[in-house]
Amino acid sequence: MHVAVIGAGVIGLSTALCIHEQYHRSVSPLKIEIYADKFTPLTTSDGAAGLWQPYLYDEGNTQETKWNKETFDYLLQYVNSEAAQDMGIFLQSGYNILKDPAPEPSWKDVVLGFRHLTPEELKLFPGYSYGWFNTALMIEGKSYLPWLTKSLLKRGVTFIQRKIENFGELAAQGADVIINCTGVRSGELQPDPELKPGRGQILKVHAPWVKHFILTHDLKTGVYTTPYIIPGSQSVTLGGIYQLGNWNEESTSVDNGWIWEQCCELLPSLKNAKIIHDWTGLRPVRSKVRLERERFVSGTLKSELIHNYGHGGFGLTIHWGCAMEAAKIFGQIVEEKKLRTPKSSL
Ligand code: FAD
Ligand code: BEZ
Repeated sequence: MHVAVIGAGVIGLSTALCIHEQYHRSVSPLKIEIYADKFTPLTTSDGAAGLWQPYLYDEGNTQETKWNKETFDYLLQYVNSEAAQDMGIFLQSGYNILKDPAPEPSWKDVVLGFRHLTPEELKLFPGYSYGWFNTALMIEGKSYLPWLTKSLLKRGVTFIQRKIENFGELAAQGADVIINCTGVRSGELQPDPELKPGRGQILKVHAPWVKHFILTHDLKTGVYTTPYIIPGSQSVTLGGIYQLGNWNEESTSVDNGWIWEQCCELLPSLKNAKIIHDWTGLRPVRSKVRLERERFVSGTLKSELIHNYGHGGFGLTIHWGCAMEAAKIFGQIVEEKKLRTPKSSL
C-alpha cells in the first residue's frame, strides 16, 4: 500500500504517524511518503501559540468536540512522561475572561479543574466581569513537529520537499491513498469556497514572570480580534489578531502596535517585557473541519483521497482526534481493497 500525505504541519505529520502506528503490522508493505514545500520550523503549526483550547462553543458540532477531547486525553497520558520535554507538552493554567456573562464552554469537562472566577480574581482584570479558570495543556509546535518528524523517520516514513500542483501527480506515481493535509492552501488543489484564511499576528516577548494564560473574549460584538497572553516554555505569546479573508503573510506595524497596547492594558507588568520577534500566520478557517473520503479519478488514474484540513485556530488542539478519524477511514479503504484484490496480489 502506497500512501502519499501532502502537508507537514501538525495535521500531516500526526495523521501519518497515527496510520503507521495502527497499520504497519497488518498492511505490508506500507509505504508512507510526506510531501510538503514547507517543513518545521516554517509551517503555521510551528508559529502557533500552542495552547490546547477549542473555540468556546461547538455550535452543535459535537464531532469536533469529541476530537478535541481525544487529543487532550492522548496528550495528558504523556504530560508527565520522560518524552514530554521533547514533545513540547506541559500543563498550563489560566483565565478566560469576558465583559458579560456567558454560557459555560463546551470543553469545560475536558480540561482540568474548570471553575468560575471569584470576585477577588475578577478584580485582577478591570473591565472584565466574568470568566473561568482551568488547567489545560501546551503543545509547542516548535518541539512537537520535530518530535513527530523524528518518530516518523524512525518508522521509515520518507519526506520529500516538493510543491504538489495536483492530486494526479501523486496518483501517477502510484499512490493508492492520498491524504490532503495542506491547511489554508488546500483550495489550490481543489477549490473550496468554504475555506478562508484567518490571519493572525503575534508578538513573542521575554516576560518570565507571567505564569498564567489570559484569553479575552467579546461575544457581544462577535469580533474575534481580542487580546491574549500565553506563556510558553521560552517566551510569552501576545496576540489576538484574527482577520478573516486576509492573505497577507507579512507582519504589520499597525497590528504590532495594537497587540502591544492591548496586552499591556490587560497586564500592565508587560510594559517591562522585551519584544523578541513578531510572526504572522494564516489559520485555515472553515465552518467545520473537512475530514472525509473522496474517490479520485482522472483519465486512467485512480486513487483514494482523504481530506483532513480546515482546523482554524485549533489545529494543535484537535490534531490527534482527527488523525485517528483519518486512520479509521484509511482502515476502511484497506478492507475494501482486500475484498477487491485477490490475496496473492495484495
Ligand atoms: P500547516 O501547519 O499550515 O501545514 C500545512 C502544510 O501543507 C505545510 O507543510 C505546507 O508546506 C504544506 N502544503 C500546503 N500546500 C501544499 C502543496 N500544494 N504542496 C506541498 N505542500 C503543501 N491552534 C491551537 O490549537 N492552539 C493555539 O494556541 C493556536 N495558536 C495560533 C496562533 C496563531 C497566530 C495562528 C495563526 C494559528 C494558531 N493556531 C492554534 C492554529 C494552528 O496553527 C492551525 O490550526 C494549524 O497549524 C493547522 O495545521 P495544518 O497542519 O493544517 O497546517
Ligand atoms: C489563536 O490565536 O488562534 C489561538 C490562541 C490561543 C488558543 C488557541 C488559538
